[in-house]
Amino acid sequence: MKLLVTGGAGFIGSHFIRHILRKYPGDSVVNLDKLTYAGNLENLRDVEGDSRYRFVRGDICDGAAVREAMRGVDAVLNFAAESHVDRSILGADEFLKTDVLGTFTLLEAARELGISRCVQISTDEVYGSIERGAAKESAPLRPSNPYSASKAGADLLVSAYWTTHRLPVLITRSSNNFGPNQYPEKLIPLFITHALEDRPLPLYGDGKNVRDWLYVRDNCAAIDLVLHAGVPGEVYNVGGGTEVENIVLTRQILRLLGKPESLIQPVKDRPGHDRRYALDCHKIRALGWKPAHEFGAALAETVRWYQEHEAWWRPIKSGEFKAYYARQYASGA
Ligand code: NAD
Ligand code: DAU
Repeated sequence: MKLLVTGGAGFIGSHFIRHILRKYPGDSVVNLDKLTYAGNLENLRDVEGDSRYRFVRGDICDGAAVREAMRGVDAVLNFAAESHVDRSILGADEFLKTDVLGTFTLLEAARELGISRCVQISTDEVYGSIERGAAKESAPLRPSNPYSASKAGADLLVSAYWTTHRLPVLITRSSNNFGPNQYPEKLIPLFITHALEDRPLPLYGDGKNVRDWLYVRDNCAAIDLVLHAGVPGEVYNVGGGTEVENIVLTRQILRLLGKPESLIQPVKDRPGHDRRYALDCHKIRALGWKPAHEFGAALAETVRWYQEHEAWWRPIKSGEFKAYYARQYASGA
């Protein structure tokens, strides 16, 4: 198969490209990525010499660039997005452009070029906060923040292209991913790297919000399965099955690093902060997927990766991240 992966220089996309190239010797991948602050070609250094891999710098909102990259491919997987909730609260323009208009641009090109499989990488955040139980794929979309609203908008468009045009689309909605190469604005890599620098860990609100953590390689296996065995027009939830309160996770990270709990600094809550996400994953499990990595072991491995890869995260934290973080805390939270 020849795949177009968008956003492949980011966290999950880069793991997915590596997963495909390792597992399918006959496959090739075109990676279309704009290289925003979150895109990092270091994430793919080990595959850049592989003749089955080609990188194209481009914006998924640019119809001409998209058509050029999409020509001749069998399947499209859209990972490209603005992905950080706190940034969407500071300013949502880029979220609407990339997450909604970019998805629309991909759908139009895929329709025109007759692509036979399009996978949209979505998120559990589109269901909004789930106080009790777990959201099925048929649950209403109730996004709480500009990021999740943009992703929900994209999901609705994708589904409409199935209903109206019979474009063979599939959607995966996964829970919070973690693992190596995640940009250090997100909770786990932020807290690991801050703790390594002996900086305070800004824990929002009462620290009791719950996320369901999924190791990134398990998500890649699920996306692979949906690509090959999913039913067009369908949505698949992908949850790690590990619900943890932020405060519990923070203590776990500090323990793994041998750092004191006095580093925890409660700060004012994120506006519109979803209390809990939870997914009903019967559908993807019926296809034959379940997480292969135990949470505690995967977290320990992730902590070790950041300890051993300062050369990856230190330049990020002293570059673009620094300006973002200063903006985030300009109000003195
Ligand atoms: P990321 O922020 O690490 O990477 C995003 C990538 O998209 C970057 O390489 C960036 O350069 C690229 N990009 C952004 N705008 C672009 C544009 N206009 N054109 C082309 N490329 C562009 O994101 P991630 O955490 O790897 O998430 C990947 C996808 O998975 C996103 O769609 C996100 O919504 C979804 N998702 C993420 C998580 C998670 O926990 N990280 C969970 C569920 C779903
Ligand atoms: O649920 C899937 C989503 O997970 C993805 O769609 C998003 O792309 C991804 O960013 C992530 O969103 P969250 O908002 O859940 O992840 P984040 O790492 O930003 O925050 C996780 C939890 O930790 C959340 O309850 C907010 C809290 N938090 C986060 C940061 C960055 C803090 O307490 N302090 C922080 O500094």
